[in-house]
Amino acid sequence: MIRLAWPDVGAAEAEAVAEVLEGGQLTMGPKVDEFERGLAAACGTEHAVVVSSGTAALHLAVLALGIGPGDEVLVPAYTFPATANVVAFVGAKPVLVDVDPETMNLDPSKIEARPRAKAIIAVDLFGRPARIEQLPGGVTVLEDAAGALGAKRQGRACGSLGALACLSFHPRKIVTTGEGGAVTTDDAELADAIRRMRHHGIEPRGGFEIAHAGLNYRLSDILCAVGIPQLGRLDELLEARTRIAAGYTERLRDVVETPKVDDGDVHGWQAYVIRVDGAADKIAALRERGIEAQVGTYALHRLAAYRDQGEFPGASQVFDCAIALPFHTRLTSSDLDRVAEAVTELAG
Ligand SMILES: Cc1ncc(COP(=O)(O)O)c(C=O)c1O
Repeated sequence: MIRLAWPDVGAAEAEAVAEVLEGGQLTMGPKVDEFERGLAAACGTEHAVVVSSGTAALHLAVLALGIGPGDEVLVPAYTFPATANVVAFVGAKPVLVDVDPETMNLDPSKIEARPRAKAIIAVDLFGRPARIEQLPGGVTVLEDAAGALGAKRQGRACGSLGALACLSFHPRKIVTTGEGGAVTTDDAELADAIRRMRHHGIEPRGGFEIAHAGLNYRLSDILCAVGIPQLGRLDELLEARTRIAAGYTERLRDVVETPKVDDGDVHGWQAYVIRVDGAADKIAALRERGIEAQVGTYALHRLAAYRDQGEFPGASQVFDCAIALPFHTRLTSSDLDRVAEAVTELAG
């Protein structure tokens, strides 16, 4: 089986974990600060606050923005469900907005004025930077950069494009800690609010006061220790993923729609997602051939939780044709040949 994903971790991460285990401080220790400093530098933001997952990052970001019952948040109709779930979870309404089938990101021309909208969540889907500057002014932008660490929009690092951004370190992401996430921001008050909420509501700088309830969404030092050497190799990992992506594109550009990026942008290559008619059957056929292909992501309006919001033709079209191909740094050129041959045969 050619695997869909294979995290690029090894001896350096194992050594770093062993050091933490031997050092005796497994959580709330120095590795948290070190990982956060590295993430803030990578995203070009003042603050990075690590949490237990990308979903936890989105949840706390939405809470920090004061979003709750009676509010609406604009969310792309084609995205990983966590983007909308966190909004529903705080009692607000995720209002779906259709995506541009070409970019697979939210289509700014489909945004309608909504007086109750408190924020827009712009997703850099699969690592492709969102056209953030085309979003309407006057509404807070939360960037879901779960898969976009290392990507750039016109020279600006993804993770710094909104008032707040969320990162994920799930194993299909370029930098992984197994599970993990972070919120990045230039806003000290929002960063403090997130630090408080990830730690039971306890004030970040001393004192035992809890003014508002919080959660335990901390990321342990063990996992931060995995992330630090990963982040140190971000450029190298992105280069390797860019090379694999180029290898697929070279083999498939005349066969199917291959992923692209706007001129002047840097793709983060979280996933390599092609578009071809009849994705579901082709995914099954690829799997039969030992190739672990997968759907791109979800069309939210087709899920029971979000089915009441009408039709989203862009999201439907993308869902029906998107296939994520095996994508990781262990793929050899003969693996790429094998996948490309199978895709070519099925597309023909
Ligand atoms: C766009 C997007 N947002 C949020 C998440 C959630 O991240 P996590 O799996 O770390 O909770 C993901 C994860 O795949 C994602 O792709």
